[in-house]
Amino acid sequence: MNLSTTIAGVTFPGCFMNAAGALCVTREELEALGRSVAGAIVTKSMTIEARTGNPEPRYYGFPEGSINSMGLPNLGYRAYAELIPQLKRFGKPVIASVAGLSEEDFPTIAETINAAQPDLIEVNLSCPNIPGKPQIGYDADTSERVLKRVRPKITVPMGVKLPPYFDPAHHQVMGTMLGRCGIDFLNLINSVGNGLVVDPERETVVIKPKGGFGGLGGRLIKPVALANVRAFYKFFGGKMPIIGTGGVMSGSDAFEHILCGASAIQVGTVLVEEGLEVFPRLEAELGAVLARQGYRSIQDCRGRLKEL
Ligand code: SIN
Repeated sequence: MNLSTTIAGVTFPGCFMNAAGALCVTREELEALGRSVAGAIVTKSMTIEARTGNPEPRYYGFPEGSINSMGLPNLGYRAYAELIPQLKRFGKPVIASVAGLSEEDFPTIAETINAAQPDLIEVNLSCPNIPGKPQIGYDADTSERVLKRVRPKITVPMGVKLPPYFDPAHHQVMGTMLGRCGIDFLNLINSVGNGLVVDPERETVVIKPKGGFGGLGGRLIKPVALANVRAFYKFFGGKMPIIGTGGVMSGSDAFEHILCGASAIQVGTVLVEEGLEVFPRLEAELGAVLARQGYRSIQDCRGRLKEL
């Protein structure tokens, strides 16, 4: 089965890739993604300065999913600007994920990273794990200001990674705002922020930062991710490319994202839990589902979810 796909004019040899954050901080991890069958290399969301991130333990997996509060550990944008041209030798798209601790950081990082010519740039407005820094994506005015400052600095396709929204009014407000900002693609969704997982035996939280609050991922967030993919797919009339992220543990989960409107799929929790071997498994499973359902490509079934 041909699982190649296209986002904003960029062709990906396969539709599965890592989510920013999963096994993509160091040169070694990024090169391993390059050698794997992942359809792209996505960098960790980068900040101005290198960061070690939040104190450990900061990731916890459990049967229904995961909770993390990594705190953007990364090498700093200058290091990724040097690495990106080298990563292109793997012959698959490189997506640079840009974050920031202040509004000013975003255009600064974007300008230098754009000069390194990744294939696409994703602006992460949705990290829930920096103490004292609210998720920008929950403030439409700040999001618009940031995106309008970043947009002129970027010549490659520019996307936005958003947090989950839980009310159609918020999809409407954000969709309208994004329509004014010249966005080329969306990545939906980041982790479901500020969840709390409790160990009843030890009577404790399970991660250290922020009193145990962190971003939820894995299978328990799939319905929230699907709802956001579907809502924005419909808002933009199917014309906005969407990377579906959230709750994909199997090829069947990926198929659900594609039916809702995703053109490509990112994986976080399952990649952390299984390692790079997850990519051939997911490809084989999705290929089998597509064949069983009578589709010949991702484009064939994208967005074709039936309503009752
Ligand atoms: C983290 O590093 O805390 C996670 C990044 C993110 O959620 O964007």
